[in-house]
Amino acid sequence: MESPELAAIDIQNLPQHIAVIMDGNGRWAKLHNMPRLFGHKQGVKAVREITEASAELGIKFLTLYAFSTENWSRPEMEVMGLMSLLVETIKAELNTLEKNNIRLRAIGDLSKLPDNTRTALLSGIEKTKRNTRMDLVLALNYSSRWEILSAVNKIAEQSKNENIHLPIDEAVFSSYLSTNGIPDPELLIRTSGEHRISNFLLWQLAYTEFHFSNVFWPDFRKKNLYEAILDFQKRQRRFGKTSEQIAR
Ligand code: IPE
Ligand code: IPE
Ligand code: MG
Repeated sequence: MESPELAAIDIQNLPQHIAVIMDGNGRWAKLHNMPRLFGHKQGVKAVREITEASAELGIKFLTLYAFSTENWSRPEMEVMGLMSLLVETIKAELNTLEKNNIRLRAIGDLSKLPDNTRTALLSGIEKTKRNTRMDLVLALNYSSRWEILSAVNKIAEQSKNENIHLPIDEAVFSSYLSTNGIPDPELLIRTSGEHRISNFLLWQLAYTEFHFSNVFWPDFRKKNLYEAILDFQKRQRRFGKTSEQIAR
């Protein structure tokens, strides 16, 4: 049976792109007296469910913050556990992604990932590259300051040999980011009750609507996604204008 939250969603006013800071795996595990890695494993279930719900709704891009550049400072056992979990998950989910016509993509500095993680990821990206229903973008070893600095360095490097037309505008700058070709998210969700960006998509979130949920990521379900979308649909996006200008 269709949930009341799903029934209340206006299909004409969906975000094209939803970005998620999946947070709270560790606290979820602690609450259940389990090791942190168990929380990450449970988190995979939420990834599956939210990916499925987004595709069913007709969302075109879903970006999931899976591992930040800063997350390397966690205990080595947790980092290694996360990297193995990634390999396992990508391998296990590839058929489902194929079947559902979902394209896997990644943003972040993939060169620093362990070889087997990068290989599994790149092969998943390659296998699904022709899929068109939705792009599932994993942010892996991602940090927004890294991304912005890489863009600046690429531009500086190129300007030594080629004629780069100055001044650079927003569209040109965006094309140097790892999200090149992906529209900015209209909605950002962060779970677990934390209210911060943690170095995620600083440029791209300039006019994004934020939804904070107190639910720990492993407990995040379709219903919670629908609630976030309903919250988004109540907002008036003004982009600097007055409400009167928007209402007209
Ligand atoms: C999010 O959950 C997953 C990653 C950052 C990889 P956390 O592991 O940050 O969970 P908490 O914040 O410690 O509860
Ligand atoms: C942000 O979560 C990164 C991911 C969700 C992958 P963190 O749990 O690492 O963020 P902070 O350190 O609490 O801000
Ligand atoms: Mg956290």
